[in-house]
Amino acid sequence: MPKSKTVFFCKECGNESPKWLGKCPACGAWDSFVEEPVAPKSKAGNGGAGPAGRLNGGTKAAPVELSKIDTQEDTRISTGIEEFDRVLGGGIVHASLVLVGGDPGIGKSTLLLQVCKTLVEKGLNVLYISGEESLRQIKMRADRLGKFNNELMLLAETSLDNIEEILAERKPDVAVIDSIQTMYREDIAASPGSVSQVRETTGALLRIGKNLGISIFIVGHVTKEGVVAGPRVLEHMVDTVLYFEGDNSSAYRVLRSVKNRFGSTNEVGVFEMQSSGLREVKNPSEYMLQGHPVGEPGSVIAASLEGTRPILVEVQALVCKTTFNMPRRTAAGTDANRVNLLMAVLEKRLGLQLGFCDAYVNVAGGLRVAEPAIDLAIVLAILSSFKNKPLPENSLVFGEVGLTGEIRGVSQAEQRVAEAVNLGYETCILPQVNAKTIKNSKIKLIGVSHVCELGKLL
Ligand code: TYD
Ligand code: MG
Repeated sequence: MPKSKTVFFCKECGNESPKWLGKCPACGAWDSFVEEPVAPKSKAGNGGAGPAGRLNGGTKAAPVELSKIDTQEDTRISTGIEEFDRVLGGGIVHASLVLVGGDPGIGKSTLLLQVCKTLVEKGLNVLYISGEESLRQIKMRADRLGKFNNELMLLAETSLDNIEEILAERKPDVAVIDSIQTMYREDIAASPGSVSQVRETTGALLRIGKNLGISIFIVGHVTKEGVVAGPRVLEHMVDTVLYFEGDNSSAYRVLRSVKNRFGSTNEVGVFEMQSSGLREVKNPSEYMLQGHPVGEPGSVIAASLEGTRPILVEVQALVCKTTFNMPRRTAAGTDANRVNLLMAVLEKRLGLQLGFCDAYVNVAGGLRVAEPAIDLAIVLAILSSFKNKPLPENSLVFGEVGLTGEIRGVSQAEQRVAEAVNLGYETCILPQVNAKTIKNSKIKLIGVSHVCELGKLL
């Protein structure tokens, strides 16, 4: 009997090695190698990820003049769900491959089933392929979403060879694969969900989609670290990577594009999970600020930016005398290290005795904000709670804080101020450099250039 051969793959980048390595020489990740049976050389090469993977299934392609390429058929298909279209960059591109990642139970299947619903109602031919749920389970979910006015085709299948046959036969306009970790190719010995299976099945789907002109959505599970399980090459292979995120405790969900070959990245769509599926949140600022306290110390409204869209969020801080040897510091909804750093700036530049205080910082509403423009809001929330004095009524804040206590300008200040005006805010505390460039008579602008100037605002 021939000895069965195995190779080692890096989970991060898909790098192959004949022996186990502690550190991947290609991407530098530690302890990322897993052992898998050798995959036979597939027809699709490495699935189109590299130059060797031809999209047209191995026939030789001739060069074409740029001006002769017709983009007419690449007009986008609108899904009818505005928030979803925006994240895709204006609708589904013909024959594109989109990866939708997210934690289990966040609502990926629900979202895609809802997209299928609006697509079939437009008269498109849609095939939903599930490897996780039975047809009856999908039907039960669909019943919660309301009546489907047109037929949606369902398939419970995990073998990619069968799926390929069915796709070639039916040629749907759009197909959904839920999820890539359950799909397998028979010619690969490794189990479904392994690095080589995920890579090869995605490669095959890429080839099928481009050849037959089918737009394919694939669902991918997310690991603890928050990346799609399987190799990073998966993200390189697909055209668009969307992440569906949110707190399991709140009904609020954000769909974010982290890679998009056909649109801008970092665009977000906001949804709310209800008993009858996901509902679009058209004005997230109003939604995020529902029921926020007015005139309370420690509560500051910040203007953050999600993609190209300004979203107002409430930053809360609670600073109180500690009863521990080591003060407790926690941050929810933002970077805890950043909060520690900003507190150090306040201690050093303003002489605030924060060393004897516990500090809790929270971005209310379940949104995670990591951009530096939220710094000034965090600083003011801490200061406001420490002094027990509220900020001026109806005010909002944005700006980045540097290590020497300087307040630095941020991008797209104009949009942030415009959103504040829309929602009826009267005062905006912002970096001096930004204040100089903005001409908006409907709001009072207070430019600040150093944290020393913040004391007089409270
Ligand atoms: P699901 O789409 O199955 O998540 P994923 O595919 O990402 O694992 O969503 C499951 C959750 O959504 C589950 O906890 C129930 C909830 N849900 C609703 O609240 N309302 C609904 O209408 C549906 C269909 C699901
Ligand atoms: Mg699911």
